Amino acid sequence: EEEAKAQIKQDLIGFCSDCHGRNGVSELKNVPNLRAQPPEYLKAQLLAFRSQQRSSSFMDAFIYQINDAQIEQAVAHFSVQPSALKGKPAWRGEKWPGDMAAGEQLAYVGNASANVPACVACHGPSGIGVEPGFPRLEGQKPQYMINQLKAWQAGKRPPGPLGVMSAIAKSMTDDEIVAVSHYFAQL
Ligand code: HEM
Ligand code: HEM
Repeated sequence: EEEAKAQIKQDLIGFCSDCHGRNGVSELKNVPNLRAQPPEYLKAQLLAFRSQQRSSSFMDAFIYQINDAQIEQAVAHFSVQPSALKGKPAWRGEKWPGDMAAGEQLAYVGNASANVPACVACHGPSGIGVEPGFPRLEGQKPQYMINQLKAWQAGKRPPGPLGVMSAIAKSMTDDEIVAVSHYFAQL
């Protein structure tokens, strides 16, 4: 703990980069890429962790030691790192052997019979986000996205703006969650 505190003070971005990668592209399966996320979104998530509304054993371990100026510093660094669509490889995992077409269908059309809207309505064509509060999904880590959708299903992540994601996740099947996450991951 004291060690983390010292490192945060000395080299904040280096500390985050151990898990998230200096360019905001993480090498770790359950750790999200932060690159090119809207600054408003990153800041909202950091404040949610710090106020213990959102929880993660990794983030919880140090987040209470981070002040507002450090949040601004981290957001400024990671939000401007280039995205996959600007030529930076993001997810370099194995190609998913499952039903990618089902994931694409959900992303662009949704599933009206289960009240699941098209993801791109908010996450943008190719998952690049349409509003400052809406995160990019393109090139995001598939297991991370699966974890988030399951956390919303279980009421373990705060519902976020208007509660849309928690409602959507609860309307999705496990197969749909896995397929759509792999679809966005490989963009
Ligand atoms: C999630 C920032 C350090 C592991 C996140 C998120 C942000 C963030 C903004 C949410 C991303 C999203 O919603 O898309 C930071 C910053 C750090 C830092 C600014 C340094 C001050 C670390 C470290 C670790 C770590 C050192 C590993 C020990 C994780 C994990 C998640 C996460 C596992 C996903 C949590 C979940 O599943 O809900 N981080 N992080 N982070 N971070 Fe960090
Ligand atoms: C966040 C997936 C549809 C609005 C997220 C995240 C995922 C996701 C994985 C977490 C991103 C991260 O932690 O970095 C999906 C999928 C959809 C879908 C698979 C379609 C089935 C929508 C729609 C809207 C929306 C239609 C708008 C009406 C949002 C917002 C957040 C978010 C506002 C941020 C929530 C927060 O602040 O905690 N989505 N999404 N999404 N999504 Fe969606």
